[in-house]
Amino acid sequence: MKNLIIKILKLIYHYFIVNEITKEKTIDGLSIGTNTDNNAIITVKYPEKSKIEIGHDCLIYGNISTETETANIIIGNNVYIGRSTIFATIEIIIEDDVLISSDCLIQDTDNHNFSRVIRKKDTSDAKTKKNQQWDLVNKKPIKICAGSWIGAKVIILKGVTIGEGAIVGAGSVVTKSVAPYTIVAGNPAKFIKNALR
Ligand SMILES: CC(C)(COP(=O)(O)OP(=O)(O)OC[C@H]1O[C@@H](n2cnc3c(N)ncnc32)[C@H](O)[C@@H]1OP(=O)(O)O)[C@@H](O)C(=O)NCCC(=O)NCCS
Repeated sequence: MKNLIIKILKLIYHYFIVNEITKEKTIDGLSIGTNTDNNAIITVKYPEKSKIEIGHDCLIYGNISTETETANIIIGNNVYIGRSTIFATIEIIIEDDVLISSDCLIQDTDNHNFSRVIRKKDTSDAKTKKNQQWDLVNKKPIKICAGSWIGAKVIILKGVTIGEGAIVGAGSVVTKSVAPYTIVAGNPAKFIKNALR
């Protein structure tokens, strides 16, 4: 009887409280699966063409944004994202069962041009909400494969794939792809040992 009451209370909490919170956060270009708790600040700058998809059974915090007309962020099922920043100008894929800790930065672009003259405009463009000239900036997609674990304060740079089941140690800067079922750490992140399956 006690268990039944707890179950009913949990159902009421989920459908009337959690769903209400999730509904408020529903925005154009964003889709969220069932039983996902979305607590993130989400921006889809061009929802006509760009999208953010979040799967089922996830718990999401942080700041997640697509910045260009062609950018997508695809997040699988059973994914945890702590208070981290995920910023896409092409594509960031986060597969099932991934854990991303707090204060990470995952960004598929350098954000600014190497030329001082060109990047001088970036601040005023941002202030006037004008779209930055992304064609003048290096961009490469990022993939974080199933079952990997990204420690706290990790930075993942453009073009990196984190292999299935891999672990990235706290505070690492990942500049190159990480092999499946390995543990990497440091700046730049290097192999330290194998991970378990
Ligand atoms: C990567 C990690 C899992 C490895 O743990 P471990 O197997 O106990 O590691 P060890 O202590 O045996 O370290 C092995 C070597 O890697 C180095 N190392 C471990 N973690 C490191 C890190 N984050 N950055 C740099 N070097 C690191 C150690 O100094 C050691 O170097 P040495 O062989 O020259 O002495 C752990 O150090 C870590 O970073 N955990 C992340 C925790 C976290 O962010 N939690 C947030 C909540 S999800």
